[in-house]
Parts: sequence; structure tokens; C-alpha cells
Amino acid sequence: MTETSARSKWETRPLTAEDQEFLWEMLYVALWDAPDEKRRPRTVLDNSVIRRLVEDWGRPDDFGLVAVDPANGRRVGAIWSRLDRYDQLDDFGCPYPCLGIGVEEAFQGTGVGSCLMQAFIAALKDRIEGLRLGVHPMNHVAQSLYRKYEFVEYAVGHGGYPQMRLPFR
Ligand SMILES: CC(C)(COP(=O)(O)OP(=O)(O)OC[C@H]1O[C@@H](n2cnc3c(N)ncnc32)[C@H](O)[C@@H]1OP(=O)(O)O)[C@@H](O)C(=O)NCCC(=O)NCCS
Repeated sequence: MTETSARSKWETRPLTAEDQEFLWEMLYVALWDAPDEKRRPRTVLDNSVIRRLVEDWGRPDDFGLVAVDPANGRRVGAIWSRLDRYDQLDDFGCPYPCLGIGVEEAFQGTGVGSCLMQAFIAALKDRIEGLRLGVHPMNHVAQSLYRKYEFVEYAVGHGGYPQMRLPFR
């Protein structure tokens, strides 16, 4: 899928161990809660199941991208996956690595997520069999982004969370 020129203002670069603090921030953003729910506390990041999603980033099978504003170098979002499935999330029968994505609140809706997703898929499509994720049932923006990049729902997880996958072959 091709991005429009209006969305090409963002650049991407690899997500490295030096981005660890930013990655924790983006993981907290990605742990989305609905407007009528209490925002979960940041201490959720201390939970061992959650920590394994991004801790010690930069292992050989970690792959991620950071979106940067080329005007000032500011990091505005990230997308990531542990390709060896170190995170060990319940995959509901789909063996693909799970992805996470988050965009700084001030930059949501400005094409950052699309830029990240497009570059991420292009980088991984010849390297792995596919990607998967689980998404909050009320997170319609994220679900719309995933459908735009041809993820399809294949199962419903705990709490009614749609599970979506994108096979590469
Ligand atoms: C979900 C998220 C990553 C999307 O990134 P983004 O930069 O905001 O999204 P984009 O501006 O690239 O828009 C991508 C698509 O999302 C949908 N979208 C974006 N903003 C939307 C809005 N306000 N209302 C409805 N749909 C919207 C559209 O389908 C859009 O594609 P289009 O512009 O071609 O129609 C980002 O909003 C985010 O970090 N949200 C909070 C964390 C989160 O939900 N993470 C995912 C958890 S599973």
C-alpha cells in the first residue's frame, strides 16, 4: 500500500537499545484503555508478562522501527516485534510474532502509524511468515489501521479482544 505524499513527512529508523526508555513509553501508550475505563496505572509496566514485551530491547531477534520528525529529530512513535516470540503471548492458534505499536498522543491521526506499519511490513515480509496482534474491542482507530494494512480477524481472545493476523504467504 502506498502512502499519500501528505503522510510522507515522517521518517523511520531502526529501534535500538538506546531507545529503551522511549520504548517503555510507547508500550504504555499501546496498552490502550477505552475512554469510559479507568486508565491503567504505569505500574502495569512492572508486570512480568508486560515487561517481556520490550525489556532488554536489542536482542538478535528483536525488530522495530522508530518514527522521527525529520525537522527536529523528535521521536513520535514506534512499532516492534520479538521475532523469536520471546514475549510468549497467547497466540490463539496463530504462530506469527506479535507486534506492538504506539504513537505519541500529540501526533496520533497524523499518519505516523501508517508510516510505521508500511515500513515494518516491507522490512519483514520476506523474513517471517506473518504478523499477529490482539486489540481492545473498542479501539476502532487501531482496528482501522490494521484493516487498512489487510490484517484480518481470526479469533476472539480474553476480554473479547479481536485477534488479527497478516499472512505474508
Ligand atoms: C493506533 C495508532 C498506532 C494509529 O497511529 P496514527 O498515527 O494515529 O494513525 P494514522 O494517522 O496513520 O491513521 C491510520 C488509520 O487509522 C484510522 N484513524 C486514524 N485516526 C482516526 C480517527 N480519529 N478516527 C477514526 N479512524 C482513524 C484511519 O483508518 C487511518 O487511515 P486513513 O487515514 O488512511 O483513513 C495510534 O493512534 C496510537 O498510538 N493509538 C494509541 C495506542 C494504540 O491504540 N495502539 C495500538 C494498540 S493494539
